[in-house]
Amino acid sequence: MSRITVFSGSGLSAGAGLATFRGPNGLWRQRDPMTLATPEAWRADPQLVTEFYNERRALAWNAQPTEAHLALARLETRFDVQIITQNVDDLHERAGSSKVTHLHGVLDRVRSTQDASHKRWMRGQPVDLDEQAPDGGQWRPDVVWFGEPVLGFTEAETAMAAADKVLVVGTSLTVQPAASLLTLAADKATKVIINADPVTLNAGFELIVGQADDCLPPLVTQWLS
Ligand code: APR
Repeated sequence: MSRITVFSGSGLSAGAGLATFRGPNGLWRQRDPMTLATPEAWRADPQLVTEFYNERRALAWNAQPTEAHLALARLETRFDVQIITQNVDDLHERAGSSKVTHLHGVLDRVRSTQDASHKRWMRGQPVDLDEQAPDGGQWRPDVVWFGEPVLGFTEAETAMAAADKVLVVGTSLTVQPAASLLTLAADKATKVIINADPVTLNAGFELIVGQADDCLPPLVTQWLS
């Protein structure tokens, strides 16, 4: 079965009403990530960080997968599809994609600051910092903060190198090491980027400038036909 590797960013979930990071109303336009998305920020003000992620968790829980997420799930009827996402929402899974690697963790899950294997699904609910984990630790977001190692990177490298088609959607390709994955795509692979704004292209990538919900479904229909 021909293999497709998808690499997605926050622009894919923009159509679901979830904020991107560096766009006009991006999260990092309004607030400094160094005060919200680093281990130092957590140590300095766990309440502020908890409230920031509580807010995002509720929004993501109440969001719905977009036409673009659903189109990506349809690819699985004919292709072996591996989703590599920088996103921490679960819209890929809820759209029906079955193989999803979250490089930057998962917003709806929290983990103990003591033993990271103690995890808990919040189902969109806020964390109350007064509630301790069973091991006495605090519940922190199970996401990857700046300065922390990304998750599933080896798996992502393998999927990128093995793909017959690479489809990049909704990312500014500014965050490493995630963005470096594109350099692993095979020369002979079909390589497409769909993004609302032009991005610096890696060798061999075709750029389609537009909204994911407009551009992705017709491309998927073409690939499935
Ligand atoms: N359709 C397609 N692309 C879109 C849409 C849309 N509807 N809306 C926005 N975009 C594009 C923007 O043009 C932008 O290039 O999505 C991209 C989003 O870029 P960023 O805001 O930088 O988000 P992302 O690339 O996902 O950031 C990567 O940075 O802070 C970290 O952990 C965070 O995972 C995130 C990482």
